Amino acid sequence: MTSSSHARSYRIAVIPGDGTGPEVTAEGLKVLAAAAAKEGFKYELTHFDYGGDRYLRTGEVLPAGAVDELRTFDCIFLGAIGHPDVAPGILEKGLLLELRFQLDQYINLRPVKLFPGVETPLRDKGPDDIDFVVVRENTEDLYCGVGGFLKKNTPDEVAMQSAVYTRKGCERCIRWAFDYTRQRNSKKKMLTLVAKTNVLTYGHDLWWRTFQEVAKVYPDIKADYNHVDACCMWMVKNPEYYDVIVTTNMFGDIITDLAGILQGGMGVAAGGNINPQGVSMFEPMGGSAPKYTGQNVINPIAAINAIGMLLEQIGEKSAAARVSKAIQQVTGTKMKSQAAGKMGFSTTQVGDLVAAAL
Ligand code: IPM
Ligand code: MN
Repeated sequence: MTSSSHARSYRIAVIPGDGTGPEVTAEGLKVLAAAAAKEGFKYELTHFDYGGDRYLRTGEVLPAGAVDELRTFDCIFLGAIGHPDVAPGILEKGLLLELRFQLDQYINLRPVKLFPGVETPLRDKGPDDIDFVVVRENTEDLYCGVGGFLKKNTPDEVAMQSAVYTRKGCERCIRWAFDYTRQRNSKKKMLTLVAKTNVLTYGHDLWWRTFQEVAKVYPDIKADYNHVDACCMWMVKNPEYYDVIVTTNMFGDIITDLAGILQGGMGVAAGGNINPQGVSMFEPMGGSAPKYTGQNVINPIAAINAIGMLLEQIGEKSAAARVSKAIQQVTGTKMKSQAAGKMGFSTTQVGDLVAAAL
């Protein structure tokens, strides 16, 4: 990872991907360019055409050597994957999960912050109430692809899909989450483990024991626990309760969509796939939204938000803060809505507004 020195310079891999991915990626890069000009760092972009169209053309999702090439960059900016003509699972497993696993991006970081002016479905809740972070383990659990069929396509068919949890895998995630909670700018200083220890008495018992043990090293952080079902309830009823949540891969996937809608939806939510010692990848959470493709109506705020996270990760903290402030100015004083086609501005105009607000 490049650190700040006299000539800060970064090599960034860009995978615009499918559908509206390229449109939102372009706005993210527009804001990156403006931030670099303000903050005086340099960067070099390399675009990769991985995604559904390339797969349909060549029959491969990631060509040989792709992962090793991506490994040489400082970070990756991903637009979206998902193509209406490609069966579910092929691009998700072949690209997104493959990169998460191969690059050992063991943290999936999902900030959940309601920006000013953004509508939440929660009545009576505002930006002061919805401001927490989910740290999702990103390499284990049901996502490992361990399983199989027996007697497939017969009346006696058996399908198995196993959740894999390792001591190393949960411990490194829990430690990272405690560190993150410690340095996060919040008064609560509370880390909530979200799991299901009352039913998953092996896998989540490992998480529970590891969490208790690691918590001893962080006496300044309140170590809290919620079952995942209760967490869903509290997240809707009292989102202000949460500071940082640490959770397993599958539960993390589900609760971050719930959290995403509380912060204004998929036009806003961004995530980071982080390898603290390696190459991290940042993405808007919206998906490829095929029906809006090419219309200049999709919301680029999530992609711009992902650029903010990327800047934070590479150490350009002041640029990251600038991006976050500019987004909040645009959502708070300019945009009519965060929904595609209802923003009051086009995709490119929203990018222009954020760039100008830097
Ligand atoms: C996410 C997405 C992915 C996941 C899919 C596309 C494989 O939903 O990043 O949350 O399940 O992790
Ligand atoms: Mn998801």
